[in-house]
Formats: sequence, C-alpha cells, structure tokens
Amino acid sequence: MRCLVTGCAGFIGSHLCEKLIKEGFEIVGVDSLSDYYPPSIKLKNLENLIKEKKFKFLKNKVEELNLEEMDLDYIFHLAAQPGVRKSWGKDFAIYTEANIMATQKLLEMAKNIPLKRFVFASSSSVYGLCPELPMKETSPLFPISPYGVTKLAGEKLCYLYHKNFDLPIVLLRYFTVYGPRQRPDMAFHKFMKSILFNEEIVIFGDGNQTRDFTYIDDVIDATIKAATNGKNGEVYNIGGGSRIRLNDVLNLLERITEKKIKIRRTEPQKGEMPHTLASIEKAKRDLSYLPQTKIEDGLLNEWEWIKNIYCTK
Ligand SMILES: NC(=O)c1ccc[n+]([C@@H]2O[C@H](COP(=O)([O-])OP(=O)(O)OC[C@H]3O[C@@H](n4cnc5c(N)ncnc54)[C@H](O)[C@@H]3O)[C@@H](O)[C@H]2O)c1
Repeated sequence: MRCLVTGCAGFIGSHLCEKLIKEGFEIVGVDSLSDYYPPSIKLKNLENLIKEKKFKFLKNKVEELNLEEMDLDYIFHLAAQPGVRKSWGKDFAIYTEANIMATQKLLEMAKNIPLKRFVFASSSSVYGLCPELPMKETSPLFPISPYGVTKLAGEKLCYLYHKNFDLPIVLLRYFTVYGPRQRPDMAFHKFMKSILFNEEIVIFGDGNQTRDFTYIDDVIDATIKAATNGKNGEVYNIGGGSRIRLNDVLNLLERITEKKIKIRRTEPQKGEMPHTLASIEKAKRDLSYLPQTKIEDGLLNEWEWIKNIYCTK
C-alpha cells in the first residue's frame, strides 16, 4: 500500500508517517518546510523517518507534485498554514495559498488517479461560534478566524471533488491536538516551556474557556481508521472525548511539573473560540474510533518531551 502524506514534517504528519511505516505502508512524504515555525524543528521531526527504506521525502510544495508518477493508494492531506492568531491581516494571503489554493491543486491532480481514499485534515475552527455543545458534524458552521474560513473552504473543495468526480474523500475535524512534537506556537508547548524556564505564562481571558484536547496517538489512530473505515463524502469530529477548563489545565500542570506557575492574565484574543467540545458518536460508529489517552497521561508525555528537547540543547 502506497500513500502520500502532505505536511509530513509537521507535528501531526510526522507521527502519522511513523505509524503508517509500522503498519507496513510505503510512504511518499512531502513538506515545503515552511517558516511558520523554525524548519530545524521540522527536520528533527523527520529524523527517524528518513532512516526508513519505505519512506521517501520530497522537500516540495504540494502544488509542485506530479501524482500520476506516484502509484498511490491513499492520500493524507495535512499540509497547511496552521494557527488562528497569525491569520489576520496581510498574512491571510499565506493562509489562502497553503490551505485553499494548494488543496485545490492537489484535488485537481487526485481526480485523475485511482485512489482508495483521500483524507483531509480539517479543524474544529470551522465551527467557530457554534450555538450548540457538543459540536456535531451537522452543527452550523460559523468560523470566527480567517484560518477557520480557509479550513472550511478546504473542506468544501474536497466535498465538491467528491460529488463531481467521485473522489473518495473523508474529512476529519481535529480538536486541539497535543503531545510530543506539538507546534511551538500551541498553548501546552508554550506553557511547559515557560514553566521549565520559570517564566510567566500569559493567559488570554479569564481562563474559563474550555477545550476538547486530543492526544496525538488518538488522532493518528483516527486518521488511519478514516482511510480504512471512513465513508466517502463524510466528515468526522476527532476529539479527545471530554473538555477541560484552561484554569484546570494549569492546576494539572502544577501537579505534573511540581512547579508553581507564574500567570499573567490579559485580554482575550480575537478569533479564539470560547469553548470546544466534539461529539464523537459518528467517528465511534463508522471508524471504531475511541480515544484512549487521559489528559493527565498525555500532558505528562508532552512534559517529558519538552524537558528533553530544551534541556539537551
Ligand atoms: N495541531 C492541531 O491542534 C490541529 C487542529 C486542527 C487541525 N489541524 C490541521 O492538521 C494539519 C497538521 O497540523 P500540525 O499541527 O501538524 O501543523 P504543522 O505546521 O506542524 O504541519 C503542517 C506542515 O505542512 C507544511 N506545509 C505548509 N504548506 C505547505 C505546502 N504548500 N506544501 C507542502 N507542505 C506545506 C509545513 O511546512 C508543516 O510542516 C493541518 O492541516 C492543520 O490545519 C491541526
């Protein structure tokens, strides 16, 4: 089984490739090593993979690929410009290029090859100010960040290639993913790094916002199950199965790190959703997805990784 993983050097993409290799897949991994965060981190993410015979790395943009030469069974399209906060203003052009234009070009190529499945990584950001919790796949979609708008556009593009060209698309809405290799702009990574160096943590708002956090291994399990068990044209929420207040995360972090956290509170950020909670009933039913990792265990694993990368430099 041969697959293409776009965004293979990123947080989620690199874990996905490692798991696919273990399961016997052959992989072409593509990543432009964009500078949203340092490319040196992305090269480190690839360290284990490039030793694998069944892994071929292409340092390219998705748009530069020629799929007809690749003999693919599956495509996992994870490449994107992530992050809510930077998606305002002139940087929006980077988001439209990476999340909309590149997706359209990949879909154009994919429609001409026989594929078993095309899995697209979307985001809970498409729900935005969702009037109901938990968020269901059928809930109204009102993204409140430019990033969320580009991910929704990516979903819609996938769907129309499915409807018009029978492309076997499965869409996944990931809910805040965490664990080792988490992006340096993401909250837990920033918090843990600050705790390690006894620096202040900045909290936007009163800390009563809640999030459905999903551990990386659970996300990878869901993503592979989407390729094998997913129904074409369907969208699935991939959440951790429960939500937690940010303030409670901070208490947990104090216990895990055995350190007193210094907190500075500031104004809420535009584009941040106040609450997220996924209904995962559909993913349970169709994909046999069941998140396994408790937040305490997942945070501990990320903390061990953070200590390791920052203390061995
Ligand atoms: N991390 C999360 O909590 C989360 C939540 C919801 C959705 N997602 C989605 O999951 C996917 C992976 O997210 P991540 O957190 O691993 O991000 P990441 O930034 O670590 O990985 C994305 C990778 O895509 C690459 N890339 C960007 N544009 C490219 C292009 N045009 N061609 C080739 N490569 C390109 C980047 O260099 C990067 O390595 C993204 O689609 C993101 O929108 C992530």
